[in-house]
Amino acid sequence: MTDLLIRGRVLTFVEAPKGIDDHASYRYFEDGAVLVRNGKIADIGEHSDVARRAGPAVKVADHRPNLVLPGLIDTHLHFPQTQAIASYGAQLLEWLNTYIFVEEQKFRQPEHAQFIAGRFMDELLSNGTTTAVAYCSVHPESVDAYFGAAESRGMLMIGGKVMMDRNAPDALRDTPQLGYDETKQLIGKWHGRGRAHYAISPRFAITSTPEQMEMSRALVAEHPECYVQTHLSENKDEIAFATSLYPEAKDYTDIYARYDLLTRKTLLGHCIYLSDREISVLAEAGAVGTFCPTSNLFLGSGLFDRDRFDKLGARWSVATDVGAGTSFSMLETMDEAYKVLHLQGQRLSPFNSFYMMTLGNARALDLDDRIGSLHIGADADIVVLDSRAKPSMELRMRVAKTLAEELFILQTMGDDRSVAETYVAGKPMKHRASNQAAETEATGGRKFETV
Ligand code: GUN
Ligand code: ZN
Repeated sequence: MTDLLIRGRVLTFVEAPKGIDDHASYRYFEDGAVLVRNGKIADIGEHSDVARRAGPAVKVADHRPNLVLPGLIDTHLHFPQTQAIASYGAQLLEWLNTYIFVEEQKFRQPEHAQFIAGRFMDELLSNGTTTAVAYCSVHPESVDAYFGAAESRGMLMIGGKVMMDRNAPDALRDTPQLGYDETKQLIGKWHGRGRAHYAISPRFAITSTPEQMEMSRALVAEHPECYVQTHLSENKDEIAFATSLYPEAKDYTDIYARYDLLTRKTLLGHCIYLSDREISVLAEAGAVGTFCPTSNLFLGSGLFDRDRFDKLGARWSVATDVGAGTSFSMLETMDEAYKVLHLQGQRLSPFNSFYMMTLGNARALDLDDRIGSLHIGADADIVVLDSRAKPSMELRMRVAKTLAEELFILQTMGDDRSVAETYVAGKPMKHRASNQAAETEATGGRKFETV
């Protein structure tokens, strides 16, 4: 395969920025280039140096004056909720019962699951997200659709079948044994196939009996190579319900601790109302709290306290949480993250935002050797961002003086229109994505929407 030289203003992080002036935390090449060979990054640096080392036999993608960054990473969302974004007027438990547990029943139908999985992946790519961690529905077919759609696009995706055996409609419940067997079978089928990683996914303590939690414990012990994802401390009614179901637990976090579900590979959605004790338990385990600002505002859940996570040494990541989250865009997500932290007197610098969407989230997944930064040998998952994508941004950019200011404009005003291109393992995917979506509509994909 011919090498590809991607030219633009290259930005990649090497460390977590300590503040708005921490210029040592990133590498930036004003006229830079990234050389892609066989889906991996083969060189990075000043354009003149990379071009000279590459020689004449390369294809060139000239993205000047746009920014070239590592592909964005989303650490928590729900693929079967793609058509349930913007469901009106309810907080978590009512929203789940009224909208989500109805929507997820559609994924029993493989055709519907495949249609939405394709659109879901293309939506991620259109927003510059190259890796995500998602819940599928309770149906194994939904996991096949999810990883099948990721595989055909070459994406590094993490996901798993939701397990739930109570407090959900009959049609969405498995049993402890069935949840175990299906999960086991799906791990065997998908984990480590191409770029797929499996996440063992008991939905949350409310929808799993103690017997299912025992089975989850067994799965995690038998498959330490897999991720674990669940929800923790998102909403006050949820906390009261969950802790009432496990009266022996000290608190919500202790429910998961008792079943040995807190590991360095565990991702816990939301983590809004945790005590210092609970955050310290997460820190000790190396488990990751996932900050989902658009979702937390949309469901009226509450405000994630990042400073307390940092103070107590616990790991955290950022995520959209579609479909309680209102956008697939990590830029829009960080715009809301900034506001949620601002409300609590906490600062999120633009360098920190862009670190979190890339290397920070890659570190939360322990995948930073492969994704999240543009280093030699990394997978060539790359996003190209246009800070002047709409007239209001172009006007604002005329008076921007620094890179930090530009990044803040991108995060505050940007969305999918700011994503000029998305490369997956070195292949341009954004426009392929929108062309394909149009094709699906034209060939009747729409007929599955109302299954
Ligand atoms: N808690 C349990 N399930 C869900 C879900 O699908 N979305 C959100 N936001 N919280 C949950
Ligand atoms: Zn969630």
